[in-house]
Amino acid sequence: MTHVTPIRGPAGAVTARVPAKVNLQLSVGRRAADGYHDLVTVFHAVSLFDEVTVRRADRTTVVLTGEGGSTVPLGPANLAVRAAAALARATGRRGRGAEGVLIEIRKRIPVAAGLAGGSADAAAALVACNELWRAGASPEQLRDIGAQIGSDVPFALVGGTAVGLGRGERLTRALVSGSYHWVLAFASGGLATPDVYAACDRLRASRAPVSAAQTTDGGGPEAPTPKLDTELMSALRSGDPAAVGPLLTNDLQPAALSLQPVLRRALAAGREHGALGAIVSGSGPTCAFLAADVGRARDLAVAITGAGVCRAVVQVTGPAAGACLVDGAGRGA
Ligand code: C5P
Repeated sequence: MTHVTPIRGPAGAVTARVPAKVNLQLSVGRRAADGYHDLVTVFHAVSLFDEVTVRRADRTTVVLTGEGGSTVPLGPANLAVRAAAALARATGRRGRGAEGVLIEIRKRIPVAAGLAGGSADAAAALVACNELWRAGASPEQLRDIGAQIGSDVPFALVGGTAVGLGRGERLTRALVSGSYHWVLAFASGGLATPDVYAACDRLRASRAPVSAAQTTDGGGPEAPTPKLDTELMSALRSGDPAAVGPLLTNDLQPAALSLQPVLRRALAAGREHGALGAIVSGSGPTCAFLAADVGRARDLAVAITGAGVCRAVVQVTGPAAGACLVDGAGRGA
């Protein structure tokens, strides 16, 4: 997590900025009895940011503007609200009247898009409330609190490129050279992450022999034990996007494509127009395309826009820094 000189904006407001992520590898193991799948993933933060501003208030409320604003819960189920409440609990503020907070979320990361936008807002709320309340939680504590809110929250705090194990919350930073130029194609509808994992299980069960598909311990169908792709890690160290592109993998992609078959057209359009790698991001439906350089990313963005296979296209770079404080006017400090 990047720490900068704490700056308070007007009326004691504190703002944090937080990136979206794509998964360069997403290997999904078997569903455990707790409903979560064992993962090996390589997270990569990209330069598409949400901003969260917090101010002291009598009670906690959320104001949301931007991408998908009408579909996000604004009550206690909001991940930023849950994060603020969890931080208040963990740092002993509850009961002292200090945990009320007005949370303003400016969303550029689409909702239910496979880019961890909700987790990003939770991470930004943790960083901003920690500063607003001078709560003094360490980066490790914030990651632990974040992991209770969502599997991707610890990575949104850390940013960069990192290997995630377990549910995705156990992180190790990855060595990466250079920066990578991406085009993200947003789809018209969203996909709920649990639905995509469930579709993945169904597809696996339908392909497995009957004996392997039937389990008695409450877990999902058999799946190969996920392993980190060492070739991908070497390619990332080399800094060569042409080496990285063909190694992008996502075990959730067949499931996302089964739920939104139109995504096949977007992936095909990206490949046809020179993407080095074309993949569904996380649980989808956003498609991520890796380009050789910034100029080719621009050409690719234009071509995909022209192909009419998605709702909107953005050009981003990675790795981006994790959640960090910015000044009250919303500019990076
Ligand atoms: O952790 P988070 O709340 O973001 O997860 C959302 C949903 O995604 C979970 O309820 C679960 O259905 C699915 N999931 C999973 N295995 C993981 C992470 C998430 O099955 N490792």
